[in-house]
Amino acid sequence: MFFDTHVHLNVKQFDDDQTETINRAREAGVEKMVVVGFDHETIPEAIRLAEQYPFIYAAVGWHPVDAIDFTSKELTWLEELARHPKVVALGEMGLDYYWDKSPKDVQADVFRQQIRLAKKLDMPIIIHNREATEDIIKLLQEEDAASVGGIMHCYNDSKDYLQACLAMNFYISLGGPVTFKNAPLPKEVAQAVPLDRLLIETDCPFLAPHPYRGKRNEPAYVTLVAKQIAALRDVPLEVIEKATTTNALRLFGLLEEK
Ligand code: NI
Repeated sequence: MFFDTHVHLNVKQFDDDQTETINRAREAGVEKMVVVGFDHETIPEAIRLAEQYPFIYAAVGWHPVDAIDFTSKELTWLEELARHPKVVALGEMGLDYYWDKSPKDVQADVFRQQIRLAKKLDMPIIIHNREATEDIIKLLQEEDAASVGGIMHCYNDSKDYLQACLAMNFYISLGGPVTFKNAPLPKEVAQAVPLDRLLIETDCPFLAPHPYRGKRNEPAYVTLVAKQIAALRDVPLEVIEKATTTNALRLFGLLEEK
């Protein structure tokens, strides 16, 4: 079985065929997934899906692009929802220097508040990083995020930053870009990550793997990510399937209920 650790079945792109998409994932062997919520609309929908399906879990966090809208009200709300039995991680959270809706200092403050909440609740963190790697690593170190660890979601850097992430007890999650032509960095990373720290994801509806690049992504395609990683590491697909699933179950505290 495959575990897609980062899906957004909770967005409008799946309004028309959410159930069919979930069924296709199950048929492809994707037996577990985490739906990630990141704002007022997607968080309740992530929880609703987790309540409806036994094999779906939720993560709740506030996206850095919208950090400017985050108040103590949102923090209290996140804490309440994080205590839901199907919520397995906090996030996505982090820093996004590509969009300029929220100033950097505001993003850093909202990120710190959420890391502190994760530590208070002893839950892993899911990191969103866009063009902000060094600041994210520095901030995670300052806040001692290593005590909870988490996921570098859709890791998009060279392997130079791997050691810092691994030292803080973070897992490295790879998605569609590892299958892209002319994308040497994620391929190098796929070969370098220790097997016991590797995760797979789609981040659907975004970042569809080859040959679906540019189209809507969906959880069934996480198998293509696993196949590409297996080819790059020259191991049977089952090795990647088993390792990434076990890693996800361990990180999310689900090993007992497997
Ligand atoms: Ni995401």
